[in-house]
Amino acid sequence: MNHDLEKIISGLKLEEKASLCSGLDFWNTKSVERLGIASWMMTDGPHGLRKQKSDSGQVGLNDSVPATCFPTGAGLASTWNRALIQEVGEALGRECKAEKVGVILGPAVNIKRSPLCGRNFEYLSEDPFLAGEMATHHIRGVQSQGVGTSIKHFAVNNQEKSRMLIDAVVDERSLREIYLPAFEIPVREAQPWTVMCSYNRVNGTYSSENPWLLTTVLKEEWGHEGLVVTDWGACDDRVEGLKAGLEFEMPGNGGITDRDIVDAVRAGTLEEAVLDGALKRILELTFRVLDNIDPEARFDREAHHRLARRVASETMVLLKNEGSLLPLAKGRRIAFVGAFARKPRFQGGGSSHMTPTFMDDALAEARRIAGSPIAISYADGYSLESEASDPELLAEAKKVASEAETAVVFIGLTDRIESEGYDRTNLGIPKNHLDLLEAVLSVQKNLVVVLSNGSPIEMPWLDRVPAVLESYLGGQAWGGAVADILFGVANPSGKLAETFPARLEDGPSYLNFPGEKSKVEYREGLFVGYRYFDSAHVKPLFPFGHGLSYTKFLYSGLKTGRKTLKDSDTLSVSLEVKNSGSVRGKEVVQLYVRDLESSVIRPMQELKGFEKIELEPGETKTVEFRLTKRAFAFWSVEQKDWIAESGQFEIAVGASSRDIRLKTVVELESTASVSRVWDQNACLRDLLDLPDVGDYVRDLMGKFRGVFGSYEPGSAEAAMTEAMVTEMPLRNLVRMGGGLVTREGLALLLDVLNGRKPARALK
Ligand code: BGC
Repeated sequence: MNHDLEKIISGLKLEEKASLCSGLDFWNTKSVERLGIASWMMTDGPHGLRKQKSDSGQVGLNDSVPATCFPTGAGLASTWNRALIQEVGEALGRECKAEKVGVILGPAVNIKRSPLCGRNFEYLSEDPFLAGEMATHHIRGVQSQGVGTSIKHFAVNNQEKSRMLIDAVVDERSLREIYLPAFEIPVREAQPWTVMCSYNRVNGTYSSENPWLLTTVLKEEWGHEGLVVTDWGACDDRVEGLKAGLEFEMPGNGGITDRDIVDAVRAGTLEEAVLDGALKRILELTFRVLDNIDPEARFDREAHHRLARRVASETMVLLKNEGSLLPLAKGRRIAFVGAFARKPRFQGGGSSHMTPTFMDDALAEARRIAGSPIAISYADGYSLESEASDPELLAEAKKVASEAETAVVFIGLTDRIESEGYDRTNLGIPKNHLDLLEAVLSVQKNLVVVLSNGSPIEMPWLDRVPAVLESYLGGQAWGGAVADILFGVANPSGKLAETFPARLEDGPSYLNFPGEKSKVEYREGLFVGYRYFDSAHVKPLFPFGHGLSYTKFLYSGLKTGRKTLKDSDTLSVSLEVKNSGSVRGKEVVQLYVRDLESSVIRPMQELKGFEKIELEPGETKTVEFRLTKRAFAFWSVEQKDWIAESGQFEIAVGASSRDIRLKTVVELESTASVSRVWDQNACLRDLLDLPDVGDYVRDLMGKFRGVFGSYEPGSAEAAMTEAMVTEMPLRNLVRMGGGLVTREGLALLLDVLNGRKPARALK
């Protein structure tokens, strides 16, 4: 439908305009009946619809209408399957439509800077490219149904501690290369209808009133056409927010901040045109939502539950499988121990906590798959009510495990340990889970650990456990999916979207998390996750990208379309992958780029491509990637742009960041004109390679060396003199050169360097 927004806006009174800039209540927008503007609803997200029941209190964290609970973000990212995430998005969109929800709050894409962040279970990855790609497909899926998304939390919301106040102090390159691209990629590729600004400050300014973030970067550079909405309660100064590019405040506050807007316009401190600009975006979204409402919309609960099971089985990461203990052989006596097997932790705590439509029971599903005459015995092993061990439950679990041929132990993290609102303080699991594992280990060597957790844990017991399945927080069909994986009905194909450190202390943010006095400095800079572990050669417990399968994949024939390229070219890369095992399986082929010659500090390698393929036994497929300039570039702080420098780049392809199977090198030629302004603090060294002045400078350096005396070639003194001279700033040619260069001479050299005079002027 066509709506004449200008006309509508000009028909609104100032008070009405201001009132449309914030919500009616916790979830709904305001209406202006006279102009046909109806109220509509936005609600959580991200991995299932949490539509609060009308009678469940203001915040209503627990009481929501039943909807399909898909695995949380940590698991969804571990699928590395773009098409599957899009399917999840489509299903979420259908459910929103059926529930008359206009925007679902998600995906949540903040980078996993520390494994301790309480919301890591909701977030996607430590890698911005992977997070950005998965978010793009999530958004495309939801929005294909005529329902909006709200990518969150923009930006640099990487901890729960002091989340509403904390000032995240991040250098420009790390912002551009690590913390922003997970938003940038989906904004450019999928245009989320809304972007949710974060609670925290970024380099001193709240995200909700940060003009650089909301206008310069989001709207002007990336071209976001939708609305910026606050996180719930993220607004600090409403008027500054509007000026900075924040259109909409949630939740409603009874008109308190609407009055601030009216007063500011009347006082002349806020131009009405700024308000009108915000209203245009608000009304565009409003009519987009209203035009898409379909009173007839329904969704198929059973079909969505089946999808949730399929998705959950792809989220699970087989971390270890010694002696091919998995899949479980039919015909063996198996024991399931651990209360999570019956009452799984399938989602996280906080705003994403929702009410599922169905709940799978892992034990029942496993018994169904294994079939008669197999009996799967079961014991709780621990209580879900406490972290203290219960000797009786432990004794029972020990007995059950000792009578079986294989034991499957279900342990992990509880809601109390891991939730929105606070961070973890260590990588441990509850004592009663650990005691159960030890009890079973004392009687059973054939042991499979199934982990339910939203973020990495430490595993001091790993050497004694032959098989570990990381099942993350798998949503309502977790039980069925676990059974599918354990018995080989599904072949595991998840890969870690985050590094599992051996010890918390090994991680790059360990010394600066969660900060102090409402400030956290991101001193590790670019070196987040595998970018640190790989660059510093620190061995992780499990590396980024790791995940085993019940089959094997062979990589061969890595080729690039060309060996030399310009940064404006697209480089095609291809290879062959063969399933050399005996079952069908999916492999995530990962492509990492390494800059072999760089003028700036860069991570050892960075993920720039990935493809998930499915192969029948014996089948071979060609996997293709296309790399553009961004795959080679870093953010230049001087040039305020992405720069791919001339030189060699290694293209490495593998099954994880630490399991590189094939490599090749290409030569890149930059088209960037690096226009440096030369001054008296430039170094002699920097001038050596300049074609016009190189010879002149070499000659000058020779003479300058003489000023320091002449030493035996190869001696320590000669080496020291050489280093001093090459590192010398130009100003010291005048001051320490004993008349070698005059002030006028230096001025002439700078004129030549800066192109004001021709090189021959130096002769
Ligand atoms: C969370 C958001 C959520 C919002 C609404 C906030 O506390 O940070 O992720 O969408 O509440 O529930």
